[in-house]
Amino acid sequence: MTYKILVTGGAGYIGSHTTLALLEAGYEVVVLDNLCNSSPESLLRVARICGKAPLFIQGDIRDHALLDELFISQRISAVLHFAGLKSVGESVRKPLDYYDNNVAGSVTLCQAMAHAGVFNLVFSSSATVYGEPTQMPIREDFPTGVPTNPYGRSKLMVEDLLQDLAKSDPRWSIALLRYFNPVGAHQSGLIGEDPNGLPNNLLPYVSQVAIGKLKQLSVFGADYPTLDGTGVRDYIHVQDLADGHLSALRTILQKTGVNIWNLGTGIGYSVLEMIRAFEQASGRAVPYKLVERRPGDIAECWADPTKAANELDWKAKRGLPEMMADTWRWQAANPQGYGR
Ligand code: NAD
Ligand code: UD1
Repeated sequence: MTYKILVTGGAGYIGSHTTLALLEAGYEVVVLDNLCNSSPESLLRVARICGKAPLFIQGDIRDHALLDELFISQRISAVLHFAGLKSVGESVRKPLDYYDNNVAGSVTLCQAMAHAGVFNLVFSSSATVYGEPTQMPIREDFPTGVPTNPYGRSKLMVEDLLQDLAKSDPRWSIALLRYFNPVGAHQSGLIGEDPNGLPNNLLPYVSQVAIGKLKQLSVFGADYPTLDGTGVRDYIHVQDLADGHLSALRTILQKTGVNIWNLGTGIGYSVLEMIRAFEQASGRAVPYKLVERRPGDIAECWADPTKAANELDWKAKRGLPEMMADTWRWQAANPQGYGR
């Protein structure tokens, strides 16, 4: 049987790579995206890579009528829910936008799913829900923390409401996937991350410095209690993340309840290690200066990926050189991203 999967936010960075992986694995895919942070070009590129296209519906997850109509016209088996806003700084300036998009949008989506009798959901959560853990690596049974910004709180709120939902109705099967730091691009160089304006995240910033669009990187804090004083994170290749979604999807189609999985590699790298690795992969210099810590940042954060390995039969396979080479290939071939 061919499953048809609804991918919300499927034109975005992680959604487009996962849409590609789904199509390559033989799923039918419907993408719902309002294009507030993406371009339809990403889906044209997906079709170029695999020779198959998802059905694309431009629309908003907060649109009740559109969702009802979508679930009536399409026989959806499961939803991969990526749609949402993700900029931490913007969430502090515009909290209502974040609660409306991320929280109210998820409520509307779940209402429409329940109405249509679709109970399989994979949600894009984040390691940010752990707050500032006292111990590394981070396991799924660690208590959730107090996120320092509305974006993080919106992710935790959706996790909590999905837990409540599953308790209220045993038909739900929900995966909460807590991503660590997604980086990289498809090896074709055709799809990748296309940040709008000044990048907030490390790797997009580094690659725009390497290509000459930005002058130098500011390294936020060199006085952390880490190996070289800079922040340590668990960077995971977006292709590994996409594969993790397929494993989670296969798993939740066979069970019910809520399952939480970390999607990380289990290895932490410092900012300076990332800069050196990127310079090696690109052959370009990445000038940087050490500056004050960024408010809200933690010193270190990496996953214990054992639970996902045991229960999903999934492991991140791609190492740092591949993450860097693929990021650079995408950046060098698409200096203006998708040209939005
Ligand atoms: P992205 O911005 O590239 O993709 C999100 C997509 O959702 C975009 O295409 C956007 O147009 C769409 N969208 C936003 N609001 C919508 C709405 N109301 N209706 C329909 N479409 C809407 O972001 P991404 O990096 O691919 O992240 C995907 C998901 O993963 C997000 O929920 C994000 O919070 C989560 N996440 C991302 C990271 C990361 O570092 N990229 C880390 C942890 C969690
Ligand atoms: C950030 C968000 C987090 C979100 C995640 C993925 C904050 C406080 N946290 O996490 O909520 O889930 O992105 O989208 O924004 N760095 C620099 N210079 C830069 C950019 C980053 O030194 O210009 C450093 C940071 O201090 C950190 C590391 O690089 O040590 C990674 O930063 P980033 O890519 O922004 O990810 P997180 O801070 O882990």
